Amino acid sequence: MREDGTSAALPASVRIVEVGPRDGLQNEAALVATADKIALIERLANAGLAHIEAAAFVSPRWVPQMADGAQVLGGIERRKGVTYSALVPNAQGLDAALGARVSEVAVFAAASESFSRKNINCSIDESLMRFEPVIEHARQAGIPVRGYVSCVPGCPFEGEIAPEAVASVAAQLYRMGCHEISLGDTIGTGTPLKTQRLIAACAHDVPLERLAGHFHDTWGMAASNVYAALESGVSVFDASVGGLGGCPYSPGASGNVATEDLVWLCEGLGIETGVDLAALVETGTWICAALGRPNASRTSRAWQARAARLAAESAL
Ligand code: HMG
Ligand code: MG
Repeated sequence: MREDGTSAALPASVRIVEVGPRDGLQNEAALVATADKIALIERLANAGLAHIEAAAFVSPRWVPQMADGAQVLGGIERRKGVTYSALVPNAQGLDAALGARVSEVAVFAAASESFSRKNINCSIDESLMRFEPVIEHARQAGIPVRGYVSCVPGCPFEGEIAPEAVASVAAQLYRMGCHEISLGDTIGTGTPLKTQRLIAACAHDVPLERLAGHFHDTWGMAASNVYAALESGVSVFDASVGGLGGCPYSPGASGNVATEDLVWLCEGLGIETGVDLAALVETGTWICAALGRPNASRTSRAWQARAARLAAESAL
């Protein structure tokens, strides 16, 4: 315990990977205008987000919403200090991502065979073999590669997945050259204890500072899982503005922990995020209105309700 009452075990700062423009939008049924995607990324950067997953260079037949990745990356004004990354499932995706001048790419595997087949049409081993030349080519191009492992700790098709199965895929991606491994609770069935056991299993082979938490909020546990992961020593978290999102190959999954909720949690713990919460709330409100969606961020809703109350009081 520090003198000010905060826990010395928690990190002093976290790094947020904003996945709203990719994970948040990929599941939207109606095509989102490229100009809105660009505006979203610009606003997020203005709010202080220093890593934005901006696109996915996947098959447009599989995920039509992500088909305009090159135009999105071509249309944003690059800011110094901001990483603009994209998902790539194979060599074709990497070539497109490099052509669009991404600053980082992410390959994505799963800890569940069924999900791997549904999501990327191959087994886990085949996916890792496919990623090997992708990682090597990216390395030659000087582009860092992040690795996702989906279905930790649960799969929509197979149910519970053993922490050892997740740890094995995480370790292989790390050994292959991924600089960071993001643990994806795709269907949000993780709870704090499961999350901590999972992190402990993965930390055998991947250094803790190379692990990231990617918690979907389908069962309402995402913020609790962030806290559990913070206690376990993880300090990188993926989040989606307005809690937007879901995975097109994970039926019923909802969005990631809302970035606003993550920032509010961290501020309450005295943990630095580098994000301006007021600007972020404005961005989340704007994109949810543009999509015609309710805002899934409880922090944002409470923030706006308080602002409306204060405005009404001052008008009296
Ligand atoms: P496939 O059909 O086996 O691919 O799909 P293929 O190599 O046989 O190619 C078939 C066609 O796709 C060809 O076109 C290729 O050119 C084209 P055709 O000749 O028939 O006209 N194609 C591509 N086009 C553009 N970009 C590419 C590309 N690759 C092939 N990169 C494939 C295999 C992996 C391509 C496909 O399954 C796919 O794109 N899957 C992506 C699914 C996806 O994006 N899921 C959501 C992201 S993952 C996620 O959300 C989880 C995460 O958030 C973490 C978590 O929450 O757990 C990361
Ligand atoms: Mg996800």
